[in-house]
Amino acid sequence: MITVDLPSSVPEPAEPPVLSRHWDDEQSWTLPNYLRRNGYQGLKAALRMRPDEVIELVKTSGLRGRGGAGFPVGTKWSFIPQDTPAPHYLVVNADESEPGTCKDMPLMLASPHMLIEGIAIAAYAIRARHAFVYVRGEVASVVRRLRAAVAEAYDAGLLGRQVLGSGLDLELVIHAGAGAYICGEETALLDSLEGRRGQPRLRPPFPATAGLYASPTVVNNVESIASVPAILRNGTDWFRSMGTERSPGFTLYSLSGHVARPGQYEAPLGVTLRELLERAGGIRAGHTLKFWTPGGSSTPMFTAEHLDVPLDYEGVGEAGSMLGTKALQIFDDTVCVVRAVTRWTEFYAHESCGKCTPCREGTYWLVQMMRRLESGDASEADLTTLVDITESIVGKAFCALGDAAGAPIMSSLEYFRDEYLAHFPGGCPFDPARATAFAD
Ligand code: NAI
Repeated sequence: MITVDLPSSVPEPAEPPVLSRHWDDEQSWTLPNYLRRNGYQGLKAALRMRPDEVIELVKTSGLRGRGGAGFPVGTKWSFIPQDTPAPHYLVVNADESEPGTCKDMPLMLASPHMLIEGIAIAAYAIRARHAFVYVRGEVASVVRRLRAAVAEAYDAGLLGRQVLGSGLDLELVIHAGAGAYICGEETALLDSLEGRRGQPRLRPPFPATAGLYASPTVVNNVESIASVPAILRNGTDWFRSMGTERSPGFTLYSLSGHVARPGQYEAPLGVTLRELLERAGGIRAGHTLKFWTPGGSSTPMFTAEHLDVPLDYEGVGEAGSMLGTKALQIFDDTVCVVRAVTRWTEFYAHESCGKCTPCREGTYWLVQMMRRLESGDASEADLTTLVDITESIVGKAFCALGDAAGAPIMSSLEYFRDEYLAHFPGGCPFDPARATAFAD
């Protein structure tokens, strides 16, 4: 039963913004407004294809996961076994919590139907009849916006039985999480969705083999799924004409901190921070760039030396960090790097789920050491202890949270060891009472 009349598609330019093009439109989130701007045309195109053809198309596009790891989306979909009697599930990870990361929330607020359309396409491709969006419960406005959009989609025959008159039946549930960073880890998220305490599972098996209720499950980030409809509408050449060979397409970069105009900046992958800062009005007046993160605090920090690193998976990797969530947190010359790292370390210790010893005990001790170093009640030998503790967590914890906790510590020591040393004796040189100590 088709209850919605889709207007003909209008041509789209091969340049960003794609995801955020209509964020400023009045009532951008309503179904009629989404339909006026090519909404659900990608789904219509997908339903004319076979599921395996949709997977192949997304593979060919080269779209990589936007949740942080950059795993190829089409490849992940192709891992779902087609010959099992078990149901398949699609789960959208909307539990965005990486410090500095704030791209999925505005996307869902402004364009919830772009996500729902992507979900319908992905569910069709992997032959799932049930999909879930696991969204941060604290962000009630997003939860409400998604639920309203889902209701609109059901009413219009875009979800439910025989979507757009096709053979696709799809039930979509918006599930609000309860505010734990670890539930953004895909297997902890699945545990939480099943009603248990969210703690990571051992991988393998990856969710593609045994995920939700031990059934084959695709877990994708919001931005990954929301990027799919445009690819179905415009084709893989269009998508690949943006970005780089191995990191094609467009993406959202979140600029926060000491930048004149913080916010979301959509650009082709491979753009540099220097170019993004030009659009964002530069570092705040009268100050200079000191350090920044390419992908939230879980990724090793960069300095002003790295302004021209291409912000794609290869470029950032070659420069010694990770693209991660593309959360560019910008810190100017007024910031004490030891203070910033202490604050991040406190976050990881607070959010450690406690399942594995290296992370549970290690992040606690990292906080004790960082606080000591920051207060000036330490010596150079304590830096060695700090590195020892960090090395006993990184690569030894059950999930990526332990590695994340180590990233700001090790990278700040690489670039700002002198600033750590300037803290003892006496404490932070950025404290106005000792303001000249570091300059000396
Ligand atoms: P990962 O590289 O282990 O896995 C990435 C994805 O590929 C997963 O969905 C996994 O199931 C799949 N995969 C990998 N190898 C596979 C295989 N052999 N077979 C089947 N599937 C396979 O990365 P992980 O641990 O899932 O995520 C780490 C990233 O998460 C970090 O890069 C970090 O930037 C990001 N992150 C994002 C946050 C956010 O708020 N968006 C919060 C914290 C971390």
